[in-house]
Amino acid sequence: MATARACANIALVKYWGKRDAALNLPAAGSLSLTLDALTTVTTVRFDDGLADDQMRLGGAPAPAAMLGRASVFLDRVRALAGITSRASIDTINHFPTASGLASSASGFAALAVAASRAAGLDLDDAALSRLSRLGSGSAARSIFGGFVRMDAGTRADGEDAVARPIDTAALAARVRMIVAEVGGGAVKSHGSRDAMEHCAETSPLYAGWLAVVPRDLVAAEDALARDDLAALGEIAEANALAMHASAIAARPAIIYWQPATLAALAEVRALRAAGRAAWATMDAGPHVKVLTTSDDAVAVAQAMAAVAGVTAVTIAAAGGPAEIVPAGAA
Ligand code: DP6
Repeated sequence: MATARACANIALVKYWGKRDAALNLPAAGSLSLTLDALTTVTTVRFDDGLADDQMRLGGAPAPAAMLGRASVFLDRVRALAGITSRASIDTINHFPTASGLASSASGFAALAVAASRAAGLDLDDAALSRLSRLGSGSAARSIFGGFVRMDAGTRADGEDAVARPIDTAALAARVRMIVAEVGGGAVKSHGSRDAMEHCAETSPLYAGWLAVVPRDLVAAEDALARDDLAALGEIAEANALAMHASAIAARPAIIYWQPATLAALAEVRALRAAGRAAWATMDAGPHVKVLTTSDDAVAVAQAMAAVAGVTAVTIAAAGGPAEIVPAGAA
């Protein structure tokens, strides 16, 4: 048995498309910030007495689809460890609110760390990142803290499709991300896995999206090397808008935005015009995340909370790497 904690991460240069669905290999690299305020704690216990894998989420039986995906993931861990025992998984998401924020990144990173340890494996961080990627592409980045770079790799076996931390101690201490939850809409969201596939197959803008990512990655890493948050923020906002443009152009369209999403984006631009550090990014949902600094975080959070349709606001700092924690840790 082992318990692990992992933080969610938000991409500043997005992963949106695969080069291999079976091995979950990304079509391009990505770059993210791990967030301390959004964590998952997962306990895995292999037990010869169990006939099937079991999973609890927040103390209640997990949905069948979630258990199914976790069970397929555990099969990979069992194959690596040479064991056949079934397992019980107990997982809790400590997210600002219950709804709508992606938890597959912290979820599969925590599951990879806990399950591999519980199975008796001793994997290094790169191996844990590859393993997490098999569960969810964005999870490969949640093995590491701070700013993280994920490589697409070129190998067919995916051994080089792995994340690594970017050494930016000064900027990682100063950066904050405001998570502004846009609620109230009953719009059904498209899960990122299906949506990115649909985009790759039908969006006339997908090729343009893929062409822009390598350029944004180079520019983002350059901005990080110079400690230049403004340059990084501009790339992040433009990159997210390009990803959403490719989704909007898919046929049929995938439109994640609600009216309050646009109002929140307008507020971010207004904050910037007023001299605040504020750059927006959005993922496969209506929520807006704002990259800012420790100096401006409270003012930016208050401004976002005042946007009509924004239902919750959380200030997150850079989070640490996924790690084993004592059993019963929250
Ligand atoms: C928009 O990692 O959830 O959040 O690999 O199919 O599980 P799968 O996809 P997932 O996609 C994340 C998409 C995104 C952008 C990002 O996190 O880079």
